[in-house]
Amino acid sequence: MEKRIAILPGDGVGKEVSKGAVTILQAVAELFGHKFHCVYGEIGGAAIDEYGTPLPEHTLELCKTSDAVLLGAVGGPKWDRMPGHIRPEKGLLKIRKELGLYANVRPVQYYSSISDVSPLRKEVVEGADMVVVRELTGGLYFGKPSERTFQKGEASVVDTLFYQKKEIERVIRYAFELATTRKGKVTSVDKANVLESSRMWRETAEEIAREYPDVRLEHMLVDNAAMQLIKNPRQFDVIVTENMFGDILSDEASVLTGSLGMLPSASVSTKGPSLYEPIHGSAPDIAGTNAANPIAMILSAAMMLRMSFGLLEEAEAVENAVKQVLESGSRTRDIALLGNFPVTTEQMADEIKAALLDNEAIFNIMGAYA
Ligand code: IPM
Ligand code: MG
Repeated sequence: MEKRIAILPGDGVGKEVSKGAVTILQAVAELFGHKFHCVYGEIGGAAIDEYGTPLPEHTLELCKTSDAVLLGAVGGPKWDRMPGHIRPEKGLLKIRKELGLYANVRPVQYYSSISDVSPLRKEVVEGADMVVVRELTGGLYFGKPSERTFQKGEASVVDTLFYQKKEIERVIRYAFELATTRKGKVTSVDKANVLESSRMWRETAEEIAREYPDVRLEHMLVDNAAMQLIKNPRQFDVIVTENMFGDILSDEASVLTGSLGMLPSASVSTKGPSLYEPIHGSAPDIAGTNAANPIAMILSAAMMLRMSFGLLEEAEAVENAVKQVLESGSRTRDIALLGNFPVTTEQMADEIKAALLDNEAIFNIMGAYA
């Protein structure tokens, strides 16, 4: 198989973890006889510095002409004082909108080998396995007006939560489809006791549910969901929710695994290529120190192999290699225990690569005897 992958490292640790993911992708290509052509583009602060805009036209073009996009992270204190429309985050929002990335899929998987870093008790998190499906191109992040105004002599401000019904439908349908391949339960999270947009969201979920008699639909208010996530995370299978609720709840859910550095995501498009990115940010405090955890990024690459290219065996091989390295006790700083010596970003990626190559070598020998 031959594929073209747009790599947008972005800012801060995005650059370091992207390198790790490319290392793994090239190893996969070698092992399984594929060709991955990685083409690089700027986004976020890196693009502002070079081109004066967080998403240059040529970066967008690069993505549109690729089979999938792998993105690191954007943002940093250097650009925090920029006016709203040229902040690094605007580049991320724009690429989501331009590529039509309506559903952001964030699997939250618990790894027993690092259960000791979760602030939650083992008996609470053990076995938790859920996916947060976050609406990504509408809601509070995109509604207009979004501006400061002056009304009745007072400084005022407005953000808008706007959805077309069809935007709600497609993301909820995505969640139901996903649930049919999992435990068959969808939790639709809203604030229907207060927001009109949530009441329409809830109605729409009910309508879609009729198309999926084998999937159980449950509604949950977002404040309760925030509590239930850490009180009884095993109850969840697929969670589907509005853009900003999903942003907040998915960070919270990462606590189950113990670190934001463990969570990958896929953003699925209505049309062109999908985009894969870790859910963590650019972590300016540790950027450039080779300390970031590349696992979220590497697992995002694995999601790409599975979802965009249909390379199931390859994706599994990467995920198994990650599991194995964690079981061997190697940990980056974010998941290291007090007194343990953490490995660097590069070392972690290299160890995952070594495990990948080892496993396949053993597999091939066994195959030869079978
Ligand atoms: C995320 C991030 C982004 C978001 C930021 C960087 C704009 O927090 O992907 O979750 O809020 O969507
Ligand atoms: Mg976020």
